[in-house]
Amino acid sequence: MNILLLGNTGQLGWELQRTLQPLGIVTALDYPEVNMADRDSIRQTVYRFQPDLIVNATAYTAVDKAESEFQLAQAINGIGPGILAEEARKLNAILVHYSTDYVFDGKKGSPYLETDTPNPINVYGRSKLAGEQAVQVVNGAYLIFRTAWVYSLRRDSFVTKVLQWARKNETLHVVDDQISNPTWARMLAEITSLLLARAGDTFLPWLAERKGLYHLAGDGFASRFEWAKMIFKYDPLPREQVTKSLLPAATTDFPSPAQRPPFSAVDCTKFKSTFDLQLPPWEKTLAIAMKMDL
Ligand SMILES: NC(=O)c1ccc[n+]([C@@H]2O[C@H](COP(=O)([O-])OP(=O)(O)OC[C@H]3O[C@@H](n4cnc5c(N)ncnc54)[C@H](OP(=O)(O)O)[C@@H]3O)[C@@H](O)[C@H]2O)c1
Repeated sequence: MNILLLGNTGQLGWELQRTLQPLGIVTALDYPEVNMADRDSIRQTVYRFQPDLIVNATAYTAVDKAESEFQLAQAINGIGPGILAEEARKLNAILVHYSTDYVFDGKKGSPYLETDTPNPINVYGRSKLAGEQAVQVVNGAYLIFRTAWVYSLRRDSFVTKVLQWARKNETLHVVDDQISNPTWARMLAEITSLLLARAGDTFLPWLAERKGLYHLAGDGFASRFEWAKMIFKYDPLPREQVTKSLLPAATTDFPSPAQRPPFSAVDCTKFKSTFDLQLPPWEKTLAIAMKMDL
């Protein structure tokens, strides 16, 4: 199988570059080899590699910056995925695409289902929702995985930030009124590849039968404050910590350009039952990530 992976230097794409290898011949590209903000670049890239499977791990993920870069965020997250879906459909290829819990406004108060109505409250969320819809409208063979709070230790993430703060600040305030599912990029990549491997010889029909939108994230949920406490706990070098008190704070204490949903955790039951796969609890995954991720 010919696999085209886009966004291979990102948190998720980096891991997918490894986990997709057993499934076929992987061509992995990132900006500027492919520019998701440029329709021609997308079309030419797909035409050139003629993939059977396209995995799109690219995204404009700078949530605050997106507020002042609407057009760029919309081009990469909102329009590009639709072009990719059109090209995939022409080739009868499967498209795997990722979206975000930030398509929700966070007011529901319990984990969101795929059937809940999105209502994004920031530019990033709106652009990602537009991307989901653009892929769905083309109606080829697609899988959209809405994930949440993705982290890795090799690129800037909430986990690496907390580890840095823990080495600088005697007192640390972290918000406890934003809640979602911490999701290790490596786990997300492993699970994506595992389910693709399940399709076996009947790859296209098997996946086409299961096409659709799924929530896929670390099991369970936490506030950023609870997540930070766990990061302190699993810090592989605790002696380097200088923080003496880690305290809960309110989102309003840290004004930022983009609004965040207060409770955007997603319910992954549909994914687990459709693909017969377990999703490990986020705390367990974090403990493993902090021992192993480099
Ligand atoms: N990070 C999160 O907390 C989070 C939460 C929910 C959902 N998600 C979704 O999960 C997926 C993976 O996210 P991630 O955290 O792995 O993102 P990431 O680390 O920011 O990686 C995104 C990748 O896209 C590339 N990219 C950006 N602009 C591009 C362009 N114009 N053309 C081609 N490539 C471009 C980036 O390249 P450069 O590094 O060179 O810019 C980077 O390699 C995305 O769909 C994201 O929306 C992420």
